Amino acid sequence: MRVRVLGSAAGGGVPQWNCACAQCTRARRQGAGAWRGQDALAVAGSEGWFLVNVSPDVRAQVLATPELAPGPGRRQTPLRGVLLTDAELDHTLGIAALREGSALDVHASPVVLRALTEGFPVRTLLAGYGGLRWHAVLPGQPIRLAAELTATPIALGHKRPRYAAALPAGPEWVLAYRFHDTSTGGVLVYAPGLAEWSPAFDAAVAGADWVILDGTFWRDEELAHSTGERTAATARQMGHLPIGGEHGSLRRLAHHPSVRFCYTHLNNTNPVLDAAGPERAQLTEAGAQLAEDGQLLTL
Ligand code: MLT
Ligand code: MN
Ligand code: ZN
Repeated sequence: MRVRVLGSAAGGGVPQWNCACAQCTRARRQGAGAWRGQDALAVAGSEGWFLVNVSPDVRAQVLATPELAPGPGRRQTPLRGVLLTDAELDHTLGIAALREGSALDVHASPVVLRALTEGFPVRTLLAGYGGLRWHAVLPGQPIRLAAELTATPIALGHKRPRYAAALPAGPEWVLAYRFHDTSTGGVLVYAPGLAEWSPAFDAAVAGADWVILDGTFWRDEELAHSTGERTAATARQMGHLPIGGEHGSLRRLAHHPSVRFCYTHLNNTNPVLDAAGPERAQLTEAGAQLAEDGQLLTL
């Protein structure tokens, strides 16, 4: 399978349009080459490409990815469909930008499909445009993306988007996907929203070649610290296991020495974005890296 990282930042991106924090200011000064789009991935087997999450940056992300260029037919696209890990706006706002009529199969959990009808009714909005076909997926049930490629959803958490607070709770609000290519044996796990390192997640990670995982925050109180708002939500309250600290995800990597780990969904508050900082050194020392926009993996 081939994999392109389309975006590696959390909601808002780096820099965020209305943020003058030190890290957003540094990114602005460095120029567009240093910017990170909002988290999304493209994955392909032998039968075309699938987007995993559709960020508000999707148009720029598709245009920046040579493999996603249309042709040779005038409206022929290599994109076959979309997989959603959750219903968060940074992962779904771009769906309306895919309304130009190409047939796409959109896969998401039943609660996420409901959120996209009731809370953020993009399914209703797009009903008259044609093209999108919606499919419910369930944890443990593989989705066939090509003869040799499957994606198996793993239930990761109960975190609902703020706009969906009135919808029922449930364990399928946040999914990871485990991609398995039976022709190469390659396995990739994609988990941009990881609330805790559960036994189910650990089992999915075991035996993977690459894991691209939630790197939103370095520490639990990062938002309060960075914004000065003492009441700001903690990383865990937002459904994001921090990277650092005694109970952070970085400590878990040593249990999987043959797996390559890449952090994505990086929030602009995360000190790991500073290539010269101690947090980045710690991450590198643990054998992990940051996902980079445009990065290509073949596995
Ligand atoms: C999240 O990842 O926690 C959400 O996308 C936050 C947001 O609404 O931007
Ligand atoms: Mn997000
Ligand atoms: Zn900022």
